[in-house]
Amino acid sequence: MSDDNAGEGGAEAQTGVAAQAAELSVILPSFNEAANIPILVNLLHTALAGIAWEAIVVDDNSPDGTTDVARKIALIDPRIRVIRRIGRRGLSGACIEGILASSAPFVAVMDADLQHDETMLPKMLAELRTGDADLVVASRKVDGGTVGEGLSKIRAWGSNIANSLAQKLLNVTLEDPMSGFFMVRREKAEALAPKLSPQGFKILLDLVSSAKGSLRIRELPFTFRERQHGESKLDTLVTFDYFGLLLAKYFGDVISVRFLMFGLVGASGLVVHLVALRLFLLGGLDFNMGQTAASFVAMTSNFFLNNQLTYRDRRLRGVQAVIGLLTFYAVCSVGVLANVGVANLIYADPSYWWFAGTAGAIMGAVWNYAASSALTWRK
Ligand code: GDD
Ligand code: MN
Repeated sequence: MSDDNAGEGGAEAQTGVAAQAAELSVILPSFNEAANIPILVNLLHTALAGIAWEAIVVDDNSPDGTTDVARKIALIDPRIRVIRRIGRRGLSGACIEGILASSAPFVAVMDADLQHDETMLPKMLAELRTGDADLVVASRKVDGGTVGEGLSKIRAWGSNIANSLAQKLLNVTLEDPMSGFFMVRREKAEALAPKLSPQGFKILLDLVSSAKGSLRIRELPFTFRERQHGESKLDTLVTFDYFGLLLAKYFGDVISVRFLMFGLVGASGLVVHLVALRLFLLGGLDFNMGQTAASFVAMTSNFFLNNQLTYRDRRLRGVQAVIGLLTFYAVCSVGVLANVGVANLIYADPSYWWFAGTAGAIMGAVWNYAASSALTWRK
């Protein structure tokens, strides 16, 4: 078996065999990591000496040219592969795509920003090779692991709350379900892939809760490093995604994360609507005018929230956003008709006013969701 650095020639060059079939694929999701990728590739060569490995950089068309940097390395180093995605964003989706592009029996998911300790990889692989585990998680929470300098106080606090929610709501026994660093038998991950949500950051939690106890899991301690170059992409919107995922999983995946988010945004729109209506009435508008104006305020607010949150992976900008807003008004106006129509049908018996009202609202929401997915934020 050859363990040379492919990029430096050696046995592989002599035998004419470009690269040995990989036993391990390391999936490296990246967004604006141009400065980190070359350093990481060198570290991987050192850490994985003696192992037949490959790394797959999955870059979402980063403006800093990460794809080009990775491709330059791939030209001289057959261990490096590159997937460039255009028009899509999202850490989980990138990881899933990388996993599905691999043929190796074992796949690791690891941040490309040097915060994850690459010397963990051989230890994780050793656990999977024994055949006693399907998933090995590099954990900051088991004895010996720490969040080190990698997380600010406030993030560490938020991460703890998110952890205990996941553990309570989803019966996930992992100490660190938020870790972005793990290794899994590819066939297991591949079998679960159709159930995973491409949005958000929480691919590990998604994987484990979708597996419903069918994965044999080990956790190994590691220390989360501080970021040296570039910046974190985890923001408050990602937290919103996370609650969407928790709820969707809690309800057994009957409703999609996207529909749940659409519903949450819709609920916020109701509050916006009532506040706006009150203000317009105070400002002297009659009820019908006030109601119409408040509807536009609420639809506009819903549009922008959905554009930021629910459809962040298909976000509309510039002229596209203006056209999107107009189609969204059109979709929602028909939604109102659907709402009132269904409500009227059921309202024949006035003692069921609440049932009629709810059925109408649900009908309107389902219509708005289906139509705006197809029209406003079409793929
Ligand atoms: N392809 C792609 N698309 N990659 C992305 C995207 C995206 O939309 N967003 C982030 N990444 C890449 C980054 O380039 C980096 O390699 C890795 O995913 C992690 O992103 P960071 O933005 O550095 O995340 P973090 O350090 O704040 O969060 C890490 O720690 C969390 C726990 O505290 C990640 O490991 C999370 O998964 C983890 O939950
Ligand atoms: Mn990071």
